[in-house]
This record gives sequence, structure tokens and C-alpha cells, in this order.
Amino acid sequence: MTDKTAPIGIFDSGVGGLTVFREIMSQIPGERIVYFGDTARVPYGSKSPETVARYAGQIVRFLESKKVKAIVVACNTASALAMAEIEKKYDIPMIEVIKPGARVAAETTANGRIGVIATEATIRSNIYTRYIKNLNETLTITGRACPLFVPLVEEGLLNDTVTDEVARRYLTGLIDIDIDTLILGCTHYPLIRETIARIMGERVKLVNPAYETARELKALLMTNNLLNDRETNLSDGQYHLYVSDGAEKFKQFADSIIKYGILTTRTINIEDY
Ligand code: DGL
Repeated sequence: MTDKTAPIGIFDSGVGGLTVFREIMSQIPGERIVYFGDTARVPYGSKSPETVARYAGQIVRFLESKKVKAIVVACNTASALAMAEIEKKYDIPMIEVIKPGARVAAETTANGRIGVIATEATIRSNIYTRYIKNLNETLTITGRACPLFVPLVEEGLLNDTVTDEVARRYLTGLIDIDIDTLILGCTHYPLIRETIARIMGERVKLVNPAYETARELKALLMTNNLLNDRETNLSDGQYHLYVSDGAEKFKQFADSIIKYGILTTRTINIEDY
């Protein structure tokens, strides 16, 4: 039987999944977390489904070696392109970020017009449209790929005129079609939420799937009797970060998002898994 005190595994192509990490640590603070950011191979959004599925498989095997009790695919691109395959192949409870975001958006819209911003691969997969239409086929969904957002965020240009200019170009078309709800369909985007909110204006509600994903994770752990309800000494290494390159730079970024408790950030060779 899986140990309730075992960690949760979370992964993304880079720093984006830390927005989901942050939400999980706030909603279920008693859990240990092992995070993997694939910094050597970011971005995933311009890669083929085969490549992303291979990367995701390696990461799941790495997280398994850390004896995680559940996995959160904190990357929309990997959720869209690889979830079906890894879920089939590995016998470990997993959740992704797209279904929770689709559900919140369908519940949020009042005028029936939803926008989705995401990576090229996620938009091409059409997955948000399929999920939302399944919930309510009368809704209209318009997707927009924003490929420059991920490198801008990875470079830490969160409040920068360059990011502002790029965001204006990407978002203008969505303002023109009068959406009232916009899904941040890439886990990097909540890190530039203020810029996006300012450009879209007050009438547009932004949906960050992280909150709902953390709630779903908690429910999944409870259903599987895996929630860490025991008294454990969590100061003994609660949060561990791993990356495929640039551990020091990553740690600095992570420290600005996750305010406490990160004990180690290590580089591993993900190709070994
Ligand atoms: N943060 C990821 C996502 O949610 C991946 C971005 C990328 O690597 O292109 O899609």
C-alpha cells in the first residue's frame, strides 16, 4: 500500500508549474512535493506530440523513482499531448490541468464567449474547445497561441515593456470579439497575469486552472485514501526541486514564488530515465 506521507510529484517544462505548486501548497499544506522542471528542453509548446509524450514518460519514470504517491501534470501542453498515453502506461493516480480550467470557464462565462490563450501545441490540439463543448455546446471558444510568453517568463521579464508590447499584439484580436472569460491555458501565464488583466480590461474574467486543479488533487488523494493526515516532521525536506539544467537560476526564480520551505534544487540527467 502506498505511504500517505509519500510526496506528490509535479512537473512542467520549466517554471510555469510553480503556479500550480503554489496553489497545492496553500490548499494542502501537509503534503511533501517533488517538482521537476524540464529547463533543458523548454519550450514544449513548439514540439511534436511524439516528442512531448517521450519527455513526459521520462519525467513520470523519474518521479516514480522518488516514490511519489500521485502526479500532477502542471503543464497544459503535456496534458494535451501526452496525458492519454502516460495515464494508460503508468499505474499511479494522475491529474492534469485542462479539464479543471475548462469546467471553471464554462461556469464563469455570462455571454457565452470564451477565449483561450496557450502554447501553439495546446491550441492546435483543440482540446479546450472539445472539453468546453462537451460541457455546453452552445458556448463559443476562440483560441490564440502566444508562443513568446513562455520564453519571456522563463527569462523573468514579468513586468517589462517588452512583455507588455507582445501581450498587446496577441490579445487585441480577443478584445475585438468581445469575450467575457479568458483561460490562462499555459501554467506560465499566471506569472504575467497583471499584464494580461490590464490589457483585457475589467470586463474579462481570467481563469487560472491552478486553483481548481489543487482542489481536484485533494479530492483524488481523499478518494484513494492518500491524503497525508498524519503528524510528520515536514521541516525534514518538505519541498524538493529538480531540473534538467540551470539549478541555481531556477532556485532563485522558485524562491520568489514559493516563499518558504525549498530545501534543495538539483540538476539531473532526465535522458537517463
Ligand atoms: N507551461 C506549459 C504549459 O502549460 C508549457 C509551456 C512550454 O514549454 O511551451 O503549456
